[in-house]
Amino acid sequence: MTLKDKTVLVTGASRGFGRAIAEEMLRLGAHVLALGRDPVAMDETRASLATIGGEFEMVTMDVCDESAVTNYITALPCLDVVVNNAGIAHVQSLIETPTQEIRDILEVNVIGAFVVMRESARKMLQTNGGQIINIASDAAIRGIARMGPYVASKHALLGLSRSMSLELRQQGVRVTTFCPGPISTDILGSGTGDSNAMSPEDLAKTITHLVEVPPEIEIQELLVQPTPQRQ
Ligand SMILES: NC(=O)c1ccc[n+]([C@@H]2O[C@H](COP(=O)([O-])OP(=O)(O)OC[C@H]3O[C@@H](n4cnc5c(N)ncnc54)[C@H](OP(=O)(O)O)[C@@H]3O)[C@@H](O)[C@H]2O)c1
Repeated sequence: MTLKDKTVLVTGASRGFGRAIAEEMLRLGAHVLALGRDPVAMDETRASLATIGGEFEMVTMDVCDESAVTNYITALPCLDVVVNNAGIAHVQSLIETPTQEIRDILEVNVIGAFVVMRESARKMLQTNGGQIINIASDAAIRGIARMGPYVASKHALLGLSRSMSLELRQQGVRVTTFCPGPISTDILGSGTGDSNAMSPEDLAKTITHLVEVPPEIEIQELLVQPTPQRQ
């Protein structure tokens, strides 16, 4: 599938990795639906997309608002690609983590992603099929101290995504789980980035390659790590 003239929904597009994905999709000629919440960050994304040009729409929405997500996706005339990227993370020891924190993380990273996935699949099955890319993390396949709830959410998303892939592949919907290592964004707060982190722009290019692989091929999951610095 080429991205030219395809309708692409990117969640969590107000900043970080999602913004870079929306920008790269727009550069390649897609009609981009950029979903996020924070009005200031959404304005920054709007300005950045406007400098690229092409067709895009800013969609202010919380992925945890099930009826808003359902109504929005149901009303779309078509949907070719969804990048389920919205996510939150916290660092805290188990001992100090209130129960509400794991509920909040699961609500966004798993339930929100589930609703976006389900509604997108419904829409794609009514039309020409499509592709869903779920942004998990390498935390989907390993543990990280002081990030238990986040790691649990990404393990859950991987399981959900693997199952959706098996369920939907014969009906023309490809589902890919993208599992990157550290990305230079502010997900854990400003200035907390890993010095070895990957650039969101480089990774966004990798995402577009996933869409452009021939339709006969489905990449079910992709583990992506920074290349170690040469000595
Ligand atoms: N950064 C890393 O090292 C890393 C590594 C592996 C995987 N990931 C994954 O990559 C994805 C993007 O992370 P990032 O690093 O770009 O983080 P980020 O800069 O903090 O961006 C997160 C995005 O998700 C959106 N979001 C959060 N909760 C939302 C909700 N309830 N409804 C709608 N949008 C919501 C935010 O929107 P608002 O700000 O507008 O609320 C923002 O656009 C996440 O799924 C994350 O787990 C990140």
